[in-house]
Amino acid sequence: MSESPVASLPHAEADRLTAQVVDSFGQAPDPRLRQMMQALVRHLHAFVRETEPTEAEWMQAIRFLTRTGQMCDDVVRQEFILLSDTLGVSMLVDAINHRKPQGATETTVLGPFYMAGMPERAPGEDMAHTPGECALVHGHARTLDGRPVAGAVLDIWQTAANGMYSGQDPAQPHGNLRGRYRTDAEGYFAIRTILPVSYPIPSDGPVGQMMAATGRHVYRPAHLHFMVDAPGFRTVVTHLFNAGDAYLASDAVFGVKPSLVIDYVRREGGDPLGRRFGIEGPYHEARYDFVLAEGA
Ligand code: BEZ
Ligand code: FE
Repeated sequence: MSESPVASLPHAEADRLTAQVVDSFGQAPDPRLRQMMQALVRHLHAFVRETEPTEAEWMQAIRFLTRTGQMCDDVVRQEFILLSDTLGVSMLVDAINHRKPQGATETTVLGPFYMAGMPERAPGEDMAHTPGECALVHGHARTLDGRPVAGAVLDIWQTAANGMYSGQDPAQPHGNLRGRYRTDAEGYFAIRTILPVSYPIPSDGPVGQMMAATGRHVYRPAHLHFMVDAPGFRTVVTHLFNAGDAYLASDAVFGVKPSLVIDYVRREGGDPLGRRFGIEGPYHEARYDFVLAEGA
């Protein structure tokens, strides 16, 4: 006896259902909320119609999202941001919201490890209180037409050599590898730190399971995070990535832009630049000029 063929999806019925749900939001008083909910329904229904999940698969998806919420805390763990990052949505939202004039420093993801209120640091002050290879990152903040931006605040954070941020790793002193540097009258800044290293994003939760199940690695290429603020200029949230890093082409969160990749050049030490900032031994020097766009 031959099995009866699986009936195809009744498209007219599915179309009717989608239209009915879209219409149910038609009277939402806030037009933006109405637009968002109606688009969400249309795209979600299209996803379900394309993939035709079994009921068990749909339950698995619901359990995944439930665990994602349960993994979040109020301090450092935000599994939903991590999910948005690893699906490239954070970079899409960033691109939509930070359209900059040609030549302005490009933006990238904030990530979950920013902490406000970190120490103010003097030019060239060492923000590293854990070991690593000495690095000096310096340059200027400028306007689009090349004028210096004095008094810009560069709020910086990076991981220790173990790949963890202070605040995330209880073994690190408060404010380690974090700090706020201010540009001088010429727009110049200098940051003494350790050479950034590549590191894995948190992978002990549902996002890590999703990455493993789909054969993706969880590494980010070595970088320094910056939030640059100056009165009269648009805030820039960005990173500077180490040239030559093995993960530049496959960042787990899709944050790399070629204009944000900088070269670290090895210096033997004892040179005027190193001595100016009290560096006696070998160090890695990198230069970068931030170009700020005027605006609120
Ligand atoms: C980070 O670079 O700190 C980061 C960004 C996105 C997800 C996880 C970590
Ligand atoms: Fe980071």
